[in-house]
Amino acid sequence: MDEHKKKKILCVGLVCLDIINVVDKYPEEDTDTRCLSQRWQRGGNASNSCTVLSLLGAPSAFMGSLSAGPVADFILEDFQKFHIDVSLVSEHAQCVLPASVVISNISTGSRTILHMNRNLPDVTKEDFSKVDLHQFKWIHWEGRNAEEQVKMIQQVAMYNSTLPPQQRITVSVEIEKTREPLYQLFPHGDVVFVSKDVARHFGFLTAEAALKGLYSRVKKGAVLICAWAEKGADALGPDGLIVHSDAFPPETLVDTLGAGDTFNAAVIYTLSNGGSLENALTFGCRVAGRKCGFHGYDSIGEKFTDNQVKN
Ligand code: ADP
Ligand code: FRU
Repeated sequence: MDEHKKKKILCVGLVCLDIINVVDKYPEEDTDTRCLSQRWQRGGNASNSCTVLSLLGAPSAFMGSLSAGPVADFILEDFQKFHIDVSLVSEHAQCVLPASVVISNISTGSRTILHMNRNLPDVTKEDFSKVDLHQFKWIHWEGRNAEEQVKMIQQVAMYNSTLPPQQRITVSVEIEKTREPLYQLFPHGDVVFVSKDVARHFGFLTAEAALKGLYSRVKKGAVLICAWAEKGADALGPDGLIVHSDAFPPETLVDTLGAGDTFNAAVIYTLSNGGSLENALTFGCRVAGRKCGFHGYDSIGEKFTDNQVKN
């Protein structure tokens, strides 16, 4: 394998604590219910995608902020358990760690998230300017402080301009939340993940319609990808052809928390290993679909043998 292929994939974005309450019936308001189980899990889109990359066998690194104290220690230990490089995590001792209370309904697979981020700052362009970019072949940004993230991506563009094409860093961005400032990220990714929520917000009723309607916002040569839960996912690249993969529903739908983060990771995994867009979408849906059949992410590693990974 050439040196570039062996480099790491960096994901920039959120890490938080997920307190997951598993129920078999969504609770009524103002009632007192017992859960089937309850667990703490490291969460956040970029952090979850690192977990999945790691489980698929790709070396990954996470860049984001963390507070100090026992909960931050739990998060750091979990990153280490998955061999995720945390050397770019910055500690903010005075801040409160963001947390989500999640109601995970095993009867439907739905996940209801209540999230709070009180004061933990996002990564800045100054933080990013200290990163040694040589270590990475791919950098993924979870859309958050978009204005600042555009400046980070410009630093990568500068770095890339000094290198031959095969040694350049590929940039992907995720536009998941329906927040106007995030839309400035569209023209900055080589690969752009746009969510069903954002697609709907723009008035599109299918992934295909969203891709056709939003493609003019991405830069020349970029790939735009839109996942649509049980409908699978579609992608559109510079050749103008829509690529589609059906979903791979598990036998029993158990837990959809982080399905999108799993999908993104599996797509990035495939593309960063030189796989085609078709294979990336199919693999993304396959890994995300399987993930919906069990709690958490750990079993992804067991379910995907080398053969299936290469599909
Ligand atoms: P999220 O809401 O976590 O962002 P998405 O709805 O975008 O996730 O789904 C991402 C991928 O996960 C889909 O393309 C699909 O492959 C898989 N997926 C999600 N929900 C289901 C489901 N109910 N059944 C099968 N696959 C699913
Ligand atoms: C799943 C997730 C959770 C987190 C929430 C934040 O995609 O990253 O782990 O609590 O979204 O919005």
